[in-house]
Amino acid sequence: MNSAIYETSPALAQYLILHYGPAEWQLPSSAPSPELAHFPVRCVQEGFRWEELPPHPTALELGCAVGRACFELSRRCRRVVGLDRSQTFLQSARLLQERGSIRCPVPLEGDQSVEWEFSLPAGVCPDRIEFRVGDALSTPFEESFDLVLAANLLDRVPDPRALLDRLPALLHPGGQLLLTSPFSWLSEHTPRERWLLPGSQQVASLLLPHFTLLRKWDLPLVLREHPRKFQWCLPEATLWRKKPPSFLPNRENA
Ligand SMILES: C[S@@+](CC[C@H](N)C(=O)[O-])C[C@H]1O[C@@H](n2cnc3c(N)ncnc32)[C@H](O)[C@@H]1O
Repeated sequence: MNSAIYETSPALAQYLILHYGPAEWQLPSSAPSPELAHFPVRCVQEGFRWEELPPHPTALELGCAVGRACFELSRRCRRVVGLDRSQTFLQSARLLQERGSIRCPVPLEGDQSVEWEFSLPAGVCPDRIEFRVGDALSTPFEESFDLVLAANLLDRVPDPRALLDRLPALLHPGGQLLLTSPFSWLSEHTPRERWLLPGSQQVASLLLPHFTLLRKWDLPLVLREHPRKFQWCLPEATLWRKKPPSFLPNRENA
């Protein structure tokens, strides 16, 4: 499967802009829709029912890319683990963690580019974050978490069902899972026979034995390729609460 795309410099620029760029870099100037900017910030701020979580929760983000959602989670969580398979993305996340800013060439037209600076926002707690390079399908975790975020990862792994299958074990009972996906299946990421079709229904039937669905909504984003090309995506977001053990099927008295 092709994960090399996430090691390239155009992809790095796209995700640094999506995660750390100001709205005017993220969106076309002629069609400003400021509510479409700052996707990772919206995931964290709007995606969880914070008031129902323990006061200082622990968090795991699978497919964290260049790390913005992890930094946002660090405002409220005492420990955050961010996992991604891309060495290039995590190298940038770690440089931001250590130095607070990085510079990166951003595509203009043809082979032209301009170097932009990306900085951490004020108020985040970089010391609370552990960035790990690893595979979301197989990396072992010694702990479980109060919340798990998996944004736009499902249709980028070779076995989406295996990803969904391992999620219950990563959460404490009562813990919250935020899953977003545009269900943009591509055979270079996921073999055709493993696509979950239709994604929304398949996700629900695989998660419902272990989780209660709290909310389902659209969480749009815009990915800038160059100043005159922007990808508008409409991921489905679902927020889930892990059921207590007594609600799980296959108990003797179930
Ligand atoms: C579409 S991007 C989404 C990034 C980020 N969550 C966001 O929404 O901005 C998919 C991310 O998942 C990562 N990824 C793909 N397959 C993975 C795997 N098996 N394990 C961990 N990360 C993976 C990629 O490197 C990339 O950072």
